[in-house]
Amino acid sequence: MSFLRPLGNTGLQVSALGLGTVKFGRNSGVKYPAAFELPDDNTIRNLLAVARESGINVLDTAPAYGSSEERIGQLLQHRQDWVLVTKVGEEFDGTHSKFDFSAAHTRISIERSLQRLRTDYLDLVLVHSDGDDEAILRQGDCIQMLRDFHKRGAIRAIGMSVKTDAGGVLAAELLDAVMVTYNLQQQDHAAVERAHVLGKGVLVKKGLMSGHVNADATGGMQDLVRDSMNAVLGNNCIHSMIVGTLSTSHLRRNVELALAALA
Ligand SMILES: NC(=O)c1ccc[n+]([C@@H]2O[C@H](COP(=O)([O-])OP(=O)(O)OC[C@H]3O[C@@H](n4cnc5c(N)ncnc54)[C@H](OP(=O)(O)O)[C@@H]3O)[C@@H](O)[C@H]2O)c1
Repeated sequence: MSFLRPLGNTGLQVSALGLGTVKFGRNSGVKYPAAFELPDDNTIRNLLAVARESGINVLDTAPAYGSSEERIGQLLQHRQDWVLVTKVGEEFDGTHSKFDFSAAHTRISIERSLQRLRTDYLDLVLVHSDGDDEAILRQGDCIQMLRDFHKRGAIRAIGMSVKTDAGGVLAAELLDAVMVTYNLQQQDHAAVERAHVLGKGVLVKKGLMSGHVNADATGGMQDLVRDSMNAVLGNNCIHSMIVGTLSTSHLRRNVELALAALA
């Protein structure tokens, strides 16, 4: 498969490597190996420019990522060149997360994301699971509201960022796309395979174990970032691996490794 590929049957074309943006807007209550300062505007501009010139078109954000959506809205140029992925259901107040999958909250959240991202459509909206994936999907209010936005053209595709493999299977059956954990230690295989059989989109989060793959490396000849990219992108049922970074050199290296994994 080439670097740009269809996201299942959604009609969206996505790059094999996407840019995760938790670190654009949130540095508390996160599980990265080292503390970090939020980036300044120029750092974000440079990351977006390197991403685009490298062929990356997927940007993954969420209301729970602090100021991430707002900053993307302020700094992103040529919105039509990007596949914007955001989420609903999780809210982070700076200290704690709370979850709300009601229809009313879903409507407010989508309207706020459109406003913050300064756009009149969202390419993909994922339900940001609290861990009880199947209950959220079966209860259905959130999904119904997302479908209403989809009918009106404000959302192009609907999916779920799951926390369980079984939830991923159900999400693949009910929705257009699923975001799963897939790395050297944990692989949501059943969800990925079900999505593939049904022609649904598959995005991967935490492919580098939120940076721990590198921090846990023992040195020597091991290159666990390379191994991770090969494991994820070597699976042709996976359409886009979303990797977070604040470093343009890491981003360039990730693109090189992604291209090598696909060669
Ligand atoms: N929906 C959800 O529930 C959920 C949960 C988690 C994540 N996500 C999405 O998935 C994205 C990725 O997940 P993630 O951010 O948790 O973890 P990740 O992509 O597995 O890892 C990101 C970490 O790896 C480091 N890194 C990136 N490239 C590297 C390289 N070439 N060499 C060494 N270190 C490197 C980054 O640090 P530097 O900044 O130093 O490069 C960053 O701390 C998120 O940004 C978010 O968009 C979604």
